[in-house]
Amino acid sequence: MSLFDKCDRFTQAREVQAAGYYPYFQPIEVSYDTEVVIRGERKIMVGSNNYLGLTHHPRVLQAATEALKRYGSGCTGSRFLNGTLDLHEELEEKLARFIGKPSALVFSTGYQTNLGVVSALVSREDHVFSDKLNHASIVDGMKLAYGTVHRYAHGDLKSLERELARTPSDAGKLVITDGIFSMEGDIVDLPAMVTLAEFYGAQVMVDDAHSLGVLGERGGGTAQHFGLEERVDLTMGTFSKSLASIGGVIAGPESVIHYLKHHARSLIFSASMPPSAVASVLAALDVIQEEPERKDALWHNTRRMQDGLRTLGYDIGRSETPVIPVLIGEMERMLMFWKELFDAGVFTNPVTPPAVPENSCRLRISLMATHTDEHVDQVLEAFAHVGKRMAVI
Ligand SMILES: Cc1ncc(COP(=O)(O)O)c(C=O)c1O
Repeated sequence: MSLFDKCDRFTQAREVQAAGYYPYFQPIEVSYDTEVVIRGERKIMVGSNNYLGLTHHPRVLQAATEALKRYGSGCTGSRFLNGTLDLHEELEEKLARFIGKPSALVFSTGYQTNLGVVSALVSREDHVFSDKLNHASIVDGMKLAYGTVHRYAHGDLKSLERELARTPSDAGKLVITDGIFSMEGDIVDLPAMVTLAEFYGAQVMVDDAHSLGVLGERGGGTAQHFGLEERVDLTMGTFSKSLASIGGVIAGPESVIHYLKHHARSLIFSASMPPSAVASVLAALDVIQEEPERKDALWHNTRRMQDGLRTLGYDIGRSETPVIPVLIGEMERMLMFWKELFDAGVFTNPVTPPAVPENSCRLRISLMATHTDEHVDQVLEAFAHVGKRMAVI
């Protein structure tokens, strides 16, 4: 048997391509924030994580351009060696304040942040407890960690407690959770989780990829939303969503950040965030503080879209955030639905197994502060039309 036999046997994607409703790798030719052009056609973008619409903000673009001129196009090395700029350090200080922690460390992506943090912290004698719907980067970080992995059903804190209770009381324990779950759009029950963790002597880490800029009075994330900044040990974030760039951050106690600087392999053995990306995040953080009305607009759009979809008769599950999954069901039907919406000028994201159970395929909508009421209404109209034609509603 040859190594490449599995590649020849993998025909599923080609079948969908041949049927004409393959949704992935769509090349965007121009982006106008809430609208994009694909193969010459304009689409309303409701599949982007650009929650605050900052990727096109003039201050963000200007900061990126200035950094490009001052530092060049890339850092060509790891943070550990030649890849640390004064800008990286400025960003770390600013993020620590924004999130409400003593210290912070910036990685090149959110994925690398989770990979590096979990694998460096959870040593052979330690235990890590993870919600089954946590992001793939957490799952992969746990695969690289030497400690014992416990996974509990989504949101099932009774099951989490059972696992905590049967772990040796003197073992190191990390409870790790998404703040907003990326496939369901629901928010973790953090108050109950931190109470449990404190009782069993565990540390808590929250992945705020979807929550920074979205939750909390000042956009500081899930802990800020619940007033629990003091009781969450580590907050992880990514810059690929509200912060309009690319990169990731872990914020927490100074000694932990210092340890991670010298042990997180995805930080040490990978080149650092490019200057323009760092400068974009710095500017985005300023805009978040100075234009709080953006967060209000995002939540206005969220309510309008959720109410509209529910009124049409769609099942949007437990979504309570700008991440809205619209349940369609079986995979082929969902892909056909996606194509009909796409042809009607609406860009959504299809979600298929293993991210969700079989027959629970969905289209995921992610809203932006810069969508207008007209955008939301046009998307709802398209959902009404296609849903009736395909007998989903
Ligand atoms: C919950 C969560 N964590 C981590 C990541 C990884 O972030 P990045 O895209 O910056 O690598 C994502 C991105 O989709 C995410 O949704």
